[in-house]
Amino acid sequence: MKIISIVELKGGTGKTTTAVTLAELLAEGDKKRKRPGSRVLLFDNDKQGNASKLFEVYERENEAPACKILKTGRIAGNIRSTKEPNLDIIPCNYYMELAELEVKADQEHAQHDRYKTALEEVSEHYDFCVIDNPPDLGMNVINTLVATDEIIIPVNLDSYSLDGLEEMVEQINQIRALNPKAKIAGVLITDYEKTDTSEAAEIWLREKSGCLVFEQKIRHSKKAKDATIYKMTPCHYSNRSSVAQDYKRFVDEYVGYYGHDLKERGKSNGI
Ligand SMILES: Nc1ncnc2c1ncn2[C@@H]1O[C@H](COP(=O)(O)OP(=O)(O)OP(=O)(O)O)[C@@H](O)[C@H]1O
Ligand SMILES: [Mg+2]
Repeated sequence: MKIISIVELKGGTGKTTTAVTLAELLAEGDKKRKRPGSRVLLFDNDKQGNASKLFEVYERENEAPACKILKTGRIAGNIRSTKEPNLDIIPCNYYMELAELEVKADQEHAQHDRYKTALEEVSEHYDFCVIDNPPDLGMNVINTLVATDEIIIPVNLDSYSLDGLEEMVEQINQIRALNPKAKIAGVLITDYEKTDTSEAAEIWLREKSGCLVFEQKIRHSKKAKDATIYKMTPCHYSNRSSVAQDYKRFVDEYVGYYGHDLKERGKSNGI
């Protein structure tokens, strides 16, 4: 099982949209491109529970499975199925805040490797685990970074988001001591609108930031927001929309259908 974490410190840059769409497209596969469906576990690690709400497994009243996993380091009994064949989910909710405090107070047990231990239990059951993260660096996000194989960082081309990116990369480098295998697969430009300023920001990002940036950008589309109202990913809501098409091309690029081998991509990553 390859563990892919979607992270960025700035809020609202498209982490959840990217996580749910990537998980769904990997699970479905693509007949046209002869890519078979994979077994995917979507891990909602954000107390907002947006991914859980989208797949209609959000519960407000009881402690959600993700919180239990953080507290115990065990995954059994904490996976829910979705209506999508091949796609299971670990839901999250606001109890995550309490779970984080509990873990921080627990000095007797290791605090950082609970997701790693838990996910090892199901490493034979899934091909991919996609983790959607909140815009912070709480104990649950540190657990993600310790467990992960690869990291995708969705950014918007604005100053706050790019500052968040620098900070994120610094934190990932620090966590390398705990997880030397973690690789930044790439930065994904989301909610893209072509202007003189965004073009300049893109040139800086691609040429000066030192980060590996995916060729494919995700364009701004009203359909992305509309899709959330109907609890759908952009691809299911409007397959022809620019946002759906862009995500499909991004997944092609990511899984190597345009010639990028994932391992090679990781190796050539300068960060
Ligand atoms: N390509 C896009 N075009 C237009 N709107 C988008 C696009 N991608 C995402 N959005 C919208 O922007 C908002 C934020 O996206 P999303 O929830 O994916 O961000 P996030 O990084 O997960 O946010 P948070 O940090 O709060 O978890 C949502 O309303 C989403 O529908
Ligand atoms: Mg989110």
